[in-house]
Amino acid sequence: AEEKPLAGKKVLVTAGPTRESIDPVRYISNHSSGKMGYAIANVAKRLGADVCLITGPTCMEYPYFVDEIVKVESAREMFENVLEKYDDYDILIMCAAVADYAPAESAKEKIKKSSDKLVIELSKTPDILEYVGHHKRSAQIVVGFAAETQNIIENGYEKLVKKNADVIVANDARKVMGSDKTEVYIIFKGKAVVNLEGTKEEVAKELLKRVCTDTH
Ligand code: C5P
Repeated sequence: AEEKPLAGKKVLVTAGPTRESIDPVRYISNHSSGKMGYAIANVAKRLGADVCLITGPTCMEYPYFVDEIVKVESAREMFENVLEKYDDYDILIMCAAVADYAPAESAKEKIKKSSDKLVIELSKTPDILEYVGHHKRSAQIVVGFAAETQNIIENGYEKLVKKNADVIVANDARKVMGSDKTEVYIIFKGKAVVNLEGTKEEVAKELLKRVCTDTH
């Protein structure tokens, strides 16, 4: 039988993209498939944790065994659900590709095609990882992700500090988004960077084991 290093732990995972409504028929989103977050939720469950998955819209089948699944659309909605829950969890894994900006207002009716140019004003969304990073209890472990296209490790470190996370998992967005495989750099506070490569399940397992042994 597999060891259960997460037995007795409560793990909250966010996954997938968010959708930011422009009007009743259109939205802004990104290429996140949800695969990494779903793999983390599945593996955390296998390793003995009590798991809640908060997910944006994906094409994935919902993980069968996790204890609770909350389906959300927008960054704001994901933020509100994380806020309501995070206090009860020991490990928070913020894997979702949350939209950084959303339309300042969603039009009530479908926007008609008229002028050659259309400007949509965007406002910053709440940064969920930054919020939980700065509000966590000292016993809670916060893991963030950083999808980058350049200076992957440097940008990951910057996020670790700015968002007060315990761990940042940094990767090359162009290489891994949507793929079954991934390559990541795991950046722990005050430790050497660990490079992992494999299927998202394999990387999830190694990440979760290291989160148990290498934090605090
Ligand atoms: O700053 P950036 O968006 O690149 O950071 C990525 C990390 O921050 C991911 O862990 C993502 O889930 C989280 N994030 C968030 N809320 C946002 C934007 C990003 O929690 N509005």
